[in-house]
Amino acid sequence: MADARRHYLDLIRQDGVRLTPELAEAFGSVPRERFVPDGFHRRDGGWMTPDDRDFLTTVYRNDVLITKLNGDVPISSSSQPSLMAIMLSALDLRPGMRVLEIGAGTGYNAALMAALGATVTSVDVQADVAGRARAALDRAGVTGVRVVTGDGYPGDPGSTYHRIIVTVGIAGLSPHWFEQLTPDGLVIAPVEHAGHHPVLAVRPGDPVTAAVVCSSGFMAAAGPLGARHAGSHPRSAGVLPELAETAPARWSPPLDTTAYRDLWYAAGAWDRRATLATPANWDQAHLVLLHDPTPAPPTDSMTDTAAKPADDPVTSGAAVLPDGSVRAGGSEADRCTAALVTLIDRWSDLNRPSMRDWRVGLALDGDPAAPIWAPHTWHLVPGARH
Ligand SMILES: C[S@@+](CC[C@H](N)C(=O)[O-])C[C@H]1O[C@@H](n2cnc3c(N)ncnc32)[C@H](O)[C@@H]1O
Repeated sequence: MADARRHYLDLIRQDGVRLTPELAEAFGSVPRERFVPDGFHRRDGGWMTPDDRDFLTTVYRNDVLITKLNGDVPISSSSQPSLMAIMLSALDLRPGMRVLEIGAGTGYNAALMAALGATVTSVDVQADVAGRARAALDRAGVTGVRVVTGDGYPGDPGSTYHRIIVTVGIAGLSPHWFEQLTPDGLVIAPVEHAGHHPVLAVRPGDPVTAAVVCSSGFMAAAGPLGARHAGSHPRSAGVLPELAETAPARWSPPLDTTAYRDLWYAAGAWDRRATLATPANWDQAHLVLLHDPTPAPPTDSMTDTAAKPADDPVTSGAAVLPDGSVRAGGSEADRCTAALVTLIDRWSDLNRPSMRDWRVGLALDGDPAAPIWAPHTWHLVPGARH
């Protein structure tokens, strides 16, 4: 078992994550298997249980463990350990801090935070999930974690927290969280941007601003936290017609995953028609620009993409491959290609800014009865990374 845990830490580090001694101790000592006692969804489609021979080996991989499905859609999981490690590093926890977690899931992340010396309140909207997390924390002998059933939008009224960590993909932050944060508090949250949920580090203030921590893929939150809003990017490219090449390759070797994500992030900041989605008959999500009949927003360095989201059926669009070639389809294929190529040129001309070079301005948006602080403006600040 000691070997398995050591190997686990190596796997987390292989993803380029720096583990402080405290984080390594937490990941090395909290028994992840205790938080998935009913098993999880196997990559090959079946359900893995603790009786399976490779159960422990699989638990101690650097992989997400999906613990609840609704049909084919994952609705609860233990997140990928390297992503948890990055988010916990960004949370800058110190012993004695009070943390509010939105998305208790299995309870494993809350147990890691308790191992780091924090007192944790963890909220999950699904009563059965919250109940299982409570039982797992008890069985693992973890103290200092309270699990609450409910929607995370109101937070934990009447309490104050030094840190808030959100472990479910949200469209924006609840204003109630800022009322519950200490003045030097910090929120770490995966916030929807162009079809994905990059993790933001948000500090309270006027204006509310955020730094980008890393890319991530989280399941979307239920309720007002997941609401569509005026600045939302379009969500689906599944209805796009057959795409044909409209611009040749420009990069050899092709962009690696990190650079491709940086291009996607910039395109989403500059143009709300850009999103990450999987065109029909493709097997992977790509940066696509979907035709939107409403006029495109201006594209200056401080861009406000607030406008009506294009959720009408999409009939034209263009996608870029990692080698820079563009494939497009539909009656507006040429226009979509030109707009996408302009975004790619702009990112290249600026020497390929990283997603961590962006500062995000948030504004209240969404349902007026339950508003959220959603990304509205993006500003490049090279070198000022979180
Ligand atoms: C990826 S899991 C959380 C992983 C968890 N932190 C762990 O360590 O296992 C996301 C969880 O968020 C919960 N969730 C979804 N929408 C929510 C909401 N509006 N408020 C609170 N929890 C929510 C889901 O029920 C799910 O269990």
